[in-house]
Amino acid sequence: MIHRPRRLRRNPALRALVRETRLTPDDFVLPLFACPGNGVRREISSMPGVFNLSVDEIASEASAAYDVGVRSIILFGLPESKDELASGAYAEDGIVQRAIRAVRRCAPELIIIADTCLCEYTSHGHCGVVRGGEVLNDESLELIARTAASQAAAGADLVAPSAMMDGQVGAIREALDDSGFENTAIMSYAVKYASAFYGPFREAAQSAPEFGDRRAYQMDPPNAREAMREAELDYSEGADILMVKPATVYLDVLKMVRDRFDLPLAAYHVSGEYALIKAAAQKGWIDEERVMMETLTSIKRAGADIILTYYAREAIRALNASATS
Ligand code: PBG
Repeated sequence: MIHRPRRLRRNPALRALVRETRLTPDDFVLPLFACPGNGVRREISSMPGVFNLSVDEIASEASAAYDVGVRSIILFGLPESKDELASGAYAEDGIVQRAIRAVRRCAPELIIIADTCLCEYTSHGHCGVVRGGEVLNDESLELIARTAASQAAAGADLVAPSAMMDGQVGAIREALDDSGFENTAIMSYAVKYASAFYGPFREAAQSAPEFGDRRAYQMDPPNAREAMREAELDYSEGADILMVKPATVYLDVLKMVRDRFDLPLAAYHVSGEYALIKAAAQKGWIDEERVMMETLTSIKRAGADIILTYYAREAIRALNASATS
């Protein structure tokens, strides 16, 4: 007897019946970049379709995204000015704090996640306090925790620490609880690699380090077992959601975290992963929508419950269109 897997591939209804992985609009988180000014909408050259938006613009962008079906956003900020201690990160009227309040007014139902890091706010562009050319861990924790508490005070539903300082999840949990934000959740960038795929983001957030690189705190790309230790630490410090970043070139790691941990799992389809698809599509070399959906599906199939992607709106539109066709 010949085995015939093709029997179940004969038409769209049969394929849908046996489909193992389905993307839904609820899966996606849309990243947005807040910048100073009024009426500012500045496209990022290495990320077509992604903009630096002033607070007024980010509020309307967020509510337009909500109307398309986006249910969660993650906010990054470009401060008015930068300094050694990243004071813009935890200022009560900081750029992200103001963006959170404005979005909350325009789109009250939207889940607002605040990226919690110092690199966009430090004059040297590193994710922590620098002394003698080194990024100090424990000195940075206090500022990171203060940033998270001020984002929670502004109304963030979740904070997302991305600095890769040891102990940052525990420090944030303690600061949140001490200031009455025990219901603010932590989505931890637990497994974050020192990746060249963040290049376009650093243009968007103007956060490239002035000297050196991030290899002394972000993970070394060849390591997967070490990722389990990072995830374990954040789990034990009180993370509510774990994240792996980037996504597509680390699907093996994503799968390992999925198999070992029962927390909700997020994956960040980062700026460079977005830019690769965009650039090839603009050259007419690939079918953008199909490559986008195949890529996002692969991330979900590997185990992500949540996908942070600059393609959130387009993916939701594609899902809605295929549901009605
Ligand atoms: C902040 C941060 C970065 C990204 C998310 N949070 C940049 C970095 O670590 O250099 C990258 C996101 C992307 O590339 O889309 N530390």
